[in-house]
Amino acid sequence: MINRETLFPTPVYFKMVQDPNKLNKYLFPLIKAWSKKDKSTEKTNAGGGWHSPDNMNLKKEYKPLTDELFTMQAEVYRDYGMEPRGALGNMWANINYPGAYNKQHIHPNAQWSGVYYVKVPKNSGNLFVEDPRPGPNIMMPPRLEKLPKQLWRIVIYRAVEGQMIMFPAWLPHGVEVNESKEKGEKGWRISVSFNFIQVNKEGQINQ
Ligand SMILES: [Fe+2]
Repeated sequence: MINRETLFPTPVYFKMVQDPNKLNKYLFPLIKAWSKKDKSTEKTNAGGGWHSPDNMNLKKEYKPLTDELFTMQAEVYRDYGMEPRGALGNMWANINYPGAYNKQHIHPNAQWSGVYYVKVPKNSGNLFVEDPRPGPNIMMPPRLEKLPKQLWRIVIYRAVEGQMIMFPAWLPHGVEVNESKEKGEKGWRISVSFNFIQVNKEGQINQ
């Protein structure tokens, strides 16, 4: 019998909002209207979808969502032993039309990143996260077939309407291709991405 400790964990937090149907029915028309009004911003990880401007966190109409994010973020900070709470640095909506995806990427200069799912048609693409440590990625031995999840190199999180997911901003992640067969807006995969950033002891953003 050997002993083992697992050090330097990579946490992925997930939680449902209080009333997913109500919130998503409210958000969908707002984001749809925004996508008709503003052109997509250019993102390095873009794979064909629409990305809103990233000032969504400053728009009053999205407060029902940001309230939920702050509640969850407080729980994340407590669980991870961080004080004080972070600030929402930026936030943006994504519409992945059928065929769209998001390349693997990280979120530079943020502490915690995450996603909220507004609309997820069948087969419209899940979130994947990859082992962030360089060491294991240059050591690729043959492995047993049934490994515990902690030892996987890539883990897929099924996109669920009404779910928030938060993870460290340095965790490489991406979104699979939207393979929905639905026509028109029924095939749209809609999510909201965001970054929480460092604040000082007074809770102010360090400029
Ligand atoms: Fe991302």
